[in-house]
Amino acid sequence: MKAGFVLAAAAAAMLSFAGLAAAQQPIVIKFSHVVALDTPKGKGAEYFKKLAEERTKGRVKVEVYPNSTLFKDGEEMEALQLGSVQMLAPSLAKFGPLGVREFEVFDLPYIFDNYDELHKVTSGPVGQALFKKLESKGIIGLAYWDNGFKDMSANKPLKLPADYKGLKMRIQSSKVLGDEMKALGAIPQVMAFSEVYQALQTGVVDGTENPPSNFYTQKMHEVQKYLALTDHGYLGYAVIVNKKFWDGLPADIRTTLEGAMKDATKYANDIAKKENDDALEAVKKSGRTQIITLTPEEKAAMKKALIAVHKENESRVGKETIAEVYRETGFKP
Ligand code: LMR
Repeated sequence: MKAGFVLAAAAAAMLSFAGLAAAQQPIVIKFSHVVALDTPKGKGAEYFKKLAEERTKGRVKVEVYPNSTLFKDGEEMEALQLGSVQMLAPSLAKFGPLGVREFEVFDLPYIFDNYDELHKVTSGPVGQALFKKLESKGIIGLAYWDNGFKDMSANKPLKLPADYKGLKMRIQSSKVLGDEMKALGAIPQVMAFSEVYQALQTGVVDGTENPPSNFYTQKMHEVQKYLALTDHGYLGYAVIVNKKFWDGLPADIRTTLEGAMKDATKYANDIAKKENDDALEAVKKSGRTQIITLTPEEKAAMKKALIAVHKENESRVGKETIAEVYRETGFKP
């Protein structure tokens, strides 16, 4: 009887020890992304990690995997849905393969003139409606993060639409971006971001588009002779989480993480423009890539060639979504 009591007490003690150890195990958030650390998204992710870990006093550990080190484009969405990672920040141009094509409204050429117009849309009904569409895919949208406005690069000077004829241009997995390149007479090639440098180096593709922060940190200036400051489209991100994971968090932790995300979003969006300005300066300084500033006439010719992409994609991204974005930004086609 006595021995039985001692055994039971020992077992109970072991159980409560195991329970305590489990309670002390931090909740791990794997946050995977495809860009370098020294970019708006790279820095935003690190800042979120810092705030989340500090504010939860170590109950949450955020492991950030930059530069496609864990998953690359074409893999990461599925990894999120399967729970192999908990958080991603894909570009808004990468939601088509998931079946949420309306995100491609952000890819329409010239639809945003500046960050303020863009923020009206992301913080308004369109931004919210797009996040709602993710829920049936097992995903929750937490925030929109900026990168910036894209420029075109190649090994020949790009000024007018005719200069793009026949060029193989790497794009993200967005039909709108495919139509954009076709409207210029170029041949679009969808490719993972991690493969772009090598594809440019070996001539698998001739050129690409990206904001200067991505161009510089992926060392594209080493393999592209010209960068045309076209500012023809916007590149930004949705920070997304696995819904089951997020809904399953203790409520106090989730609230703390939401606060950390809010502050990390402000930080990422505050630094985005300067990160791109600095990267452009660094490209200039490298002396490897010649920067081309378009004349107002050249800019007008580019816009004229590209604007048809809006109408062509009404059925894909939604006529009403486009109309709402026009209303919010004051855009006149
Ligand atoms: C690209 O694939 O060109 C970019 O979307 C990469 C990124 O996440 O900024």
